[in-house]
Amino acid sequence: MTATLIDGRAVAARVRKEVARDVEALPAPPGLATIIIGDDPASAIYVRNKRRQCVEAGMRDLHRPLPGDISQARAAAVIDELAADPAVTAILVQLPLPPHLDAAALIDRIPPGKDVDGLTAGSAGRLALGRPGLRPCTPAGVLVLLDEIGVELAGAHAVVVGRSDLVGKPMAALLLQRHATVTVCHSRTRDLAATCRLADVLVVAAGVPGIVGVDGVKPGATVIDVGIHRTGTGLRGDVDADQVREVAGALTPVPGGVGPMTIAMLLRNTVTAAALCPSPDTASSRGRP
Ligand code: GUN
Repeated sequence: MTATLIDGRAVAARVRKEVARDVEALPAPPGLATIIIGDDPASAIYVRNKRRQCVEAGMRDLHRPLPGDISQARAAAVIDELAADPAVTAILVQLPLPPHLDAAALIDRIPPGKDVDGLTAGSAGRLALGRPGLRPCTPAGVLVLLDEIGVELAGAHAVVVGRSDLVGKPMAALLLQRHATVTVCHSRTRDLAATCRLADVLVVAAGVPGIVGVDGVKPGATVIDVGIHRTGTGLRGDVDADQVREVAGALTPVPGGVGPMTIAMLLRNTVTAAALCPSPDTASSRGRP
């Protein structure tokens, strides 16, 4: 069997187009505040792409670069200021932060209605409880890809490799919400390949190049590779794609699979957040700050 490759670029382009159309229908353009602290080169590239796509979708780019030596109190004050600003309908704090900062405490200052990364404790709790809310972008994008190829999740065995707050944990919660039987593997899992081999749907977000090989894939399984690593021979994922392609039923390529979905879902969350927020004009006319 040769796996069908899932074209994340095409799906992301469609989502971006839908978002641009939805933005036009809003009374005022959403405003996305991207906060970057310090000069991590990978973060700079991610944030530049987020800002560009935000503008291309007709939204306002309200970028706030902050110095790498900023204090916790000053960073908190900037977030509070953005939280109170009605022109800012969405706030994103790019991770990782410099080690002297308490990232969780800063993220938790974002109001739930502006939490377009879905990373606050409030948003994570709402997801865990199955209540409506803004969902983390990468796992939300994975669900869109699974729906795109028509994977039946109800009753399927889904195995998630990785337990990060950004991907693994919310991915498991989203799959559970869709009635999959969910197993979460991580660095202490004893026989990773044997557990992965149980999966009808395998989502690998371990951050370890090639951690899942052909011995970890059931023939015909749908394999979603969230990893992306720059190697001497180009970009590679967490899955050994050359071998797994021969066994899986469907596979996301790296690059061009999950990657493009993350920003597309951020844009979609930004529209959702703005639609829930009063626009600056209507907010002032209703006497809000
Ligand atoms: N760093 C890597 N990916 C992400 C993401 O999706 N959101 C944020 N805020 N930081 C990240």
